[in-house]
Amino acid sequence: MSEKSSMLPSRFIFYVMLICMFLLVLSSIFLVQFSSHSFIPRSVLELIIVNNSSFYFTPNFKKEQIILPTLPSEDLKFQTLKPRESDWKVSDSSEKGMSVGKQVNVVCDPTKALLKVFMYDLPPEFHFGLLGWKGSVNQTWPEVDNPSRVPRYPGGLNLQHSIEYWLTLDLLSSNTKKHGQPCTAVRVRNSSQADIIFVPFFSSLSYNRHSKIQGEGQVSVNKMLQDRLVIFLKGRKEWKRSGGKNHLIVAHHPNSLLDARSKLASAMLVLADFGRYPVELANIKKDIIAPYRHLVATIPRGESPSYGERSTLVYFQGAIYRKDGGVIRQELYYLLKDEKDVHFTFGSIGGNGVNQASQGMSMSKFCLNIAGDTPSSNRLFDAIVSHCVPVIISDEIELPFEDVLDYSEFSVFVRAADAVKKGYLLNLLHSIKREEWTKMWERLKEITNHFEYQYPSQPGDAVNMIWQEVARKISSMQFNSHRKNRYNRSQLLVKSN
Ligand SMILES: *[C@@H]1O[C@H](CO)[C@@H](O)[C@H](O)[C@H]1NC(C)=O
Ligand SMILES: *[C@@H]1O[C@H](CO)[C@@H](O)[C@H](O)[C@H]1NC(C)=O
Ligand SMILES: *[C@@H]1O[C@H](CO)[C@@H](O)[C@H](O)[C@H]1NC(C)=O
Ligand SMILES: *[C@@H]1O[C@H](CO)[C@@H](O)[C@H](O)[C@H]1NC(C)=O
Ligand SMILES: *[C@@H]1O[C@H](CO)[C@@H](O)[C@H](O)[C@H]1NC(C)=O
Repeated sequence: MSEKSSMLPSRFIFYVMLICMFLLVLSSIFLVQFSSHSFIPRSVLELIIVNNSSFYFTPNFKKEQIILPTLPSEDLKFQTLKPRESDWKVSDSSEKGMSVGKQVNVVCDPTKALLKVFMYDLPPEFHFGLLGWKGSVNQTWPEVDNPSRVPRYPGGLNLQHSIEYWLTLDLLSSNTKKHGQPCTAVRVRNSSQADIIFVPFFSSLSYNRHSKIQGEGQVSVNKMLQDRLVIFLKGRKEWKRSGGKNHLIVAHHPNSLLDARSKLASAMLVLADFGRYPVELANIKKDIIAPYRHLVATIPRGESPSYGERSTLVYFQGAIYRKDGGVIRQELYYLLKDEKDVHFTFGSIGGNGVNQASQGMSMSKFCLNIAGDTPSSNRLFDAIVSHCVPVIISDEIELPFEDVLDYSEFSVFVRAADAVKKGYLLNLLHSIKREEWTKMWERLKEITNHFEYQYPSQPGDAVNMIWQEVARKISSMQFNSHRKNRYNRSQLLVKSN
């Protein structure tokens, strides 16, 4: 009985829906046909109707960049034709300023860029001079128009911390962009117009190459450069304006900027981790964690061995005996060393070790990342580009771009306390079956691009991701400071009355 009475309303709703759908289809056809007379460009309309992917821009601190119709319609058309799968999620509006599809050279317009960056013209000894580059008299920067002729960063282990180099090159070339490159950060010549002031000091290279003290009573080049940098920055009006808060300093090697860090810590720092910084000097509120430059070669997507082709279950490469947080490595080593599916290799990967590690990781299902003497290491990024699912055993680790990347989609996190329980780790990894592993592997292949440093930079690569992270950090710092200031004005008024 009750069934019959409910029949009528549901049938009625069905008809109403049918009519609604009919009207919707009719109106969209109508819109397309008459769009040539409308004030909205036809391409924009087509975009709205054909696909809604263009509305997936993540929130941005610059309002003007979210407004679609200010863009040339050609760009929009291209985007509808070729949506980049993984990019839509993370790399946001920075792509809109560029004209990828067309084979014309386009200079990035600062007003359309995500981030306007002022860069000091520090003398070459602070940057490319450290690479052995010598320009002509009074020449501060190398020519960067021809990527094959820019000064090279030394290879080997130095390369892990080369972030300073890639960011500087990207800025240098940002005013002469060619087609296909993102308009994310653009160099401006007037510091009052900049969102952030970039300090082009190659601090990691300076630490790696110039820490030796030359003679009796002398200081190292590394220390001398830092002392001079502090004096230079403290004397600049740009620094005084905000006490350094609007400055961006790259200090990726955990020991870089050791002498100057306490004096320059008000700046936004680009770091590998916070392991060797007291929390007052560096923290996730103001600073940025950047990935290491991986040392092993990236496996091309199509050639990545799948579940069945990876014969080793777990791979670990690194030093076993470490100070500080690294004691867990020893414990794990003794727990796992006799297991048949587990592969340990010792020592850091220099020289020939790189090929060996690359081989080992690409033939393993899981790669261990155990806290060493610092919470982070390049091993995680080597694992990612080998598409070997990272197993992260490092309670204090901070991960790059974690505000836009969900690492649990492609990594396994294990608390250190659990990892050292007998049998825990292998049980856990054995329980992750082919299907689940393959999901992580597919995701790894999608996100590998975000960990590539390259010149020229490409949409969604590490250089691009760092600039976007800087933009988001500026935005969240502004948010916090505005909140703090809520009552200041009224308090002042009350006092003066
Ligand atoms: C369109 O948007 C909806 C949510 O609003 C989403 O579920 C769907 O996947 C989108 N379609 C495309 C083609 O992006
Ligand atoms: C619409 O978006 C989907 C998913 O984002 C994509 O696969 C499809 O090719 C797009 N269609 C057009 C016409 O751009
Ligand atoms: C280099 O700069 C100095 C001081 O600005 C100037 O006197 C000199 O002429 C410049 N030399 C060249 C080759 O441009
Ligand atoms: C730099 O920009 C500020 C603010 O836009 C302006 O007042 C100033 O005149 C500019 N300086 C130069 C040298 O163009
Ligand atoms: C506003 O007041 C708060 C706390 O009272 C203080 O921390 C902040 O620095 C003040 N801001 C300015 C711009 O004076």
